[in-house]
Amino acid sequence: MGAVTRHCFLPPPFFFDIRMRIGHYALANSLLVAPMAGVTDRPFRQLCKRLGAAYAVSEMVTSRRYLWDSLKTSRRTDHAGEPGPIAVQIAGIDPRMMADAALYNVDRGAQIIDINMGCPAKKVCNKWAGSALMQDEALALSIVEAVVAACQSRNVPVTLKMRTGWCQQHRNAVVLARAFESAGVQMLAVHGRTREQGYRGVAEYDTIAAVKAAVHIPVAANGDITSPEKARLVLRRTGADALMVGRAAQGRPWIFREIAHFLATGTYLAPPLVSEVRRWLLEHLHDHYRFYGEFIGLRSARKHIGWYVRGLPGSEVFRAYLNGLESCDAQIDAVAQFLDGLNNRMDRFPAHSAESVLANTGRDMAEVTL
Ligand SMILES: Cc1cc2nc3c(=O)[nH]c(=O)nc-3n(C[C@H](O)[C@H](O)[C@H](O)COP(=O)(O)O)c2cc1C
Repeated sequence: MGAVTRHCFLPPPFFFDIRMRIGHYALANSLLVAPMAGVTDRPFRQLCKRLGAAYAVSEMVTSRRYLWDSLKTSRRTDHAGEPGPIAVQIAGIDPRMMADAALYNVDRGAQIIDINMGCPAKKVCNKWAGSALMQDEALALSIVEAVVAACQSRNVPVTLKMRTGWCQQHRNAVVLARAFESAGVQMLAVHGRTREQGYRGVAEYDTIAAVKAAVHIPVAANGDITSPEKARLVLRRTGADALMVGRAAQGRPWIFREIAHFLATGTYLAPPLVSEVRRWLLEHLHDHYRFYGEFIGLRSARKHIGWYVRGLPGSEVFRAYLNGLESCDAQIDAVAQFLDGLNNRMDRFPAHSAESVLANTGRDMAEVTL
């Protein structure tokens, strides 16, 4: 890993205390992978953890018991081989069902339970789960109390992810944060948008700073962190204990080591070699096929490959070609050849622009399901 000192007229390295605890778990650093349904499956979480993230939250698991035997939920509760602490996000609207869901996941290896009050997806919010819960503070608190009570008996910390509020006029993150802390939540992640905003506009960090100032538990800042510089800016603006990165890690899981390096040294880590990305992506794909099997694996891998090659010369034609391939072996060969071709042109992987990273969230969110 070579470090380059690109023109960066920076003040001395920004002091960032990388030690971080969630309950009794000490993390190697404070860089967290945001939960993303349809994205942060076990293979992707493991790769992010290998490339610099200390912690990754699973895709949400529904509290609706009748879905627990479904293939989708059983995959989301499969943590075999994943380095701990294993954090599982649960979603639902009923305190008793949420407490049961927490224990169900603890029995399947969850070491930390995260409550979803952050996801704006319609399939979640129409049922009043996810960020919709922020509108009903009493219910939100009952859910937290029930989940904390259930998890206390197993010594499992409870964390919670939320937005800044329901809408611009109703930004109640600070009030809720205080109540959740009193109820026993041990870390909060705050996405700097309201539910109403969805993914539109830009994340604001003042409310996250206000949450951080209002509580004593660790706070992770989330929203539009797309580069090491942005990471430092968000830390400075919010005073947060941790950073949570979502979309910018899609197709770019090495962003965590880039941020870690920049925060520790004030210098930029050189972009990875094309040969390194080739190795990571092929390992990711093999792991993905093992996890999902050939039929689903082949199809669901396409979006990941699309994210890795986004913006590269010839990527549009390549993506169209990929859609016609009908076996994992053919997909692997095509990816290897594409990246070999890129390697003949350049040594290092080009950096993505922030805009392209955040551009296609609408399409991604259409796929979000419990
Ligand atoms: C495809 C997708 C799926 C998501 N699924 C969840 C989820 O299951 N639970 C949750 O709390 N947030 C979910 N989110 C929100 C992210 O965790 C994160 O808060 C959001 O993307 C903002 O962070 P970012 O700008 O770093 O992407 C999802 C976001 C995306 C793009």
